[in-house]
Amino acid sequence: MQESKDETTHFGFQQIPANEKVDAVAKVFHSVAAKYDIMNDLMSGGIHRLWKMHTINQSGVKYGNQVLDIAGGTGDLTLKFSRIVGAEGKVVLADINDSMLKVGRDKLANKGVVGNVEFVQANAEELPFPDNTFDCITIAFGLRNVTNKDAALASMFRVLKPGGRLLVLEFSKPKSEHLSMLYDQYSFRVLPFMGKLVANDAESYRYLAESIRMHPDQETLKDMMENVGFESTSYQNLTGGIVALHKGFKF
Ligand SMILES: C[S@@+](CC[C@H](N)C(=O)[O-])C[C@H]1O[C@@H](n2cnc3c(N)ncnc32)[C@H](O)[C@@H]1O
Repeated sequence: MQESKDETTHFGFQQIPANEKVDAVAKVFHSVAAKYDIMNDLMSGGIHRLWKMHTINQSGVKYGNQVLDIAGGTGDLTLKFSRIVGAEGKVVLADINDSMLKVGRDKLANKGVVGNVEFVQANAEELPFPDNTFDCITIAFGLRNVTNKDAALASMFRVLKPGGRLLVLEFSKPKSEHLSMLYDQYSFRVLPFMGKLVANDAESYRYLAESIRMHPDQETLKDMMENVGFESTSYQNLTGGIVALHKGFKF
């Protein structure tokens, strides 16, 4: 799983030089940023809201906590966390992509979120925060876009406080063959078509479907988390394993 910068890596089903992946991913998210939220609702039939609500419920976040929502994009999780941590706490919405951050910043301002949210442009592989800073870190639908996932997980481990938890919400491997077949049809036929129709961008949504297939499965991701130091790791399959929520602690 380790992807060195001198080697090649996958970008969807293509193999590209590892040091070109950041720019290729950036292009996708610059392109989809403006339509990201509406596409999420359309593509998932609104179910992404339930996956995210479940993530919040599993986070253990309390009033006064420090939370990092890395690859936070348009800020769905940040919005909910900001209400939980209140005036004494802080949520950092970090993302590598300034177009996604801008949509997130505008959305949160429109929802009246002020004061306890900080916006930071950062690569998950090299988080610009001191050791032991956050009570909870979330990365939702972000990890599969990161070039060096091991480096990103290690960076998250470093900035998490002892006793803190990491939650990784990500597409995963469906548990049944039947669901897997239906899901393939949907991903490779319907998603690019919807992307073309709504966002005039079939390519980015083809990347989305391909990147999901290339992402480590449930057990592999759990092992990767343990390899960088996370303990008491576990995962829950959501919607038959189309999505999984991984949890790990730093003790
Ligand atoms: C599919 S969006 C998810 C946004 C949000 N977390 C959500 O669940 O709606 C993926 C996000 O990951 C960000 N991203 C991709 N690579 C990243 C990296 N190396 N470091 C930080 N963010 C990254 C993208 O810019 C994009 O905003």
